[in-house]
Amino acid sequence: MDYIIYGLIAYIIGSIPFGLIVGKIGYQTDIREHGSGNLGGTNTFRVLGIKAGLIVTIADILKGTFATLIPFFMNSEVMLLIIGVFAVLGHTYPLFAKFKGGKAVATSSGVILAVQPILFLVMLTTFFIILYVSKYVSLSSMVTGIITVIVSIVLGNVGLIIVSTSLTAFVIYRHRANIKRILNKTEPKIKWM
Ligand code: G3P
Repeated sequence: MDYIIYGLIAYIIGSIPFGLIVGKIGYQTDIREHGSGNLGGTNTFRVLGIKAGLIVTIADILKGTFATLIPFFMNSEVMLLIIGVFAVLGHTYPLFAKFKGGKAVATSSGVILAVQPILFLVMLTTFFIILYVSKYVSLSSMVTGIITVIVSIVLGNVGLIIVSTSLTAFVIYRHRANIKRILNKTEPKIKWM
């Protein structure tokens, strides 16, 4: 029963649409009507600039971390990870934004940060290396997910393997339109790196 309540709380925390809040309150702009239309950090960078993008990305990461750590007293890493998955579902299908949210990247990484901070640093490094080489945020997000699965396998952590594989598959699924654009060579590249 407790697990269901923590999962529900995590979903509600994940549902907080920081991209929408920061855009509407700080810039009177609904980022869903601009750029890729995605309610995430990347589109906030694209539409509203560095300051707003950083705030939304960090907030989207930390809501995953916070939601995962609410039942911190549980002695099971895999249970914490599963509760974190509900925060990711909240981020992608938010209760407070007509169930149309982000692409699961930042909040998933926040879930990993909660239980495996060193792996989070590996993910961050991987992300920026791929971004530097490719200039595609979407590709960097997906490749980072795949590297996370590989590292989980190397660590031999079964719970982490299952959750990271599920989250990475979900991240790739959420990037279907980006994958088509990358193949068509119409996906926007970042210009600042
Ligand atoms: O985190 C989402 C990112 O990988 C892609 O976002 O707005 O370019 O579709 P966007």
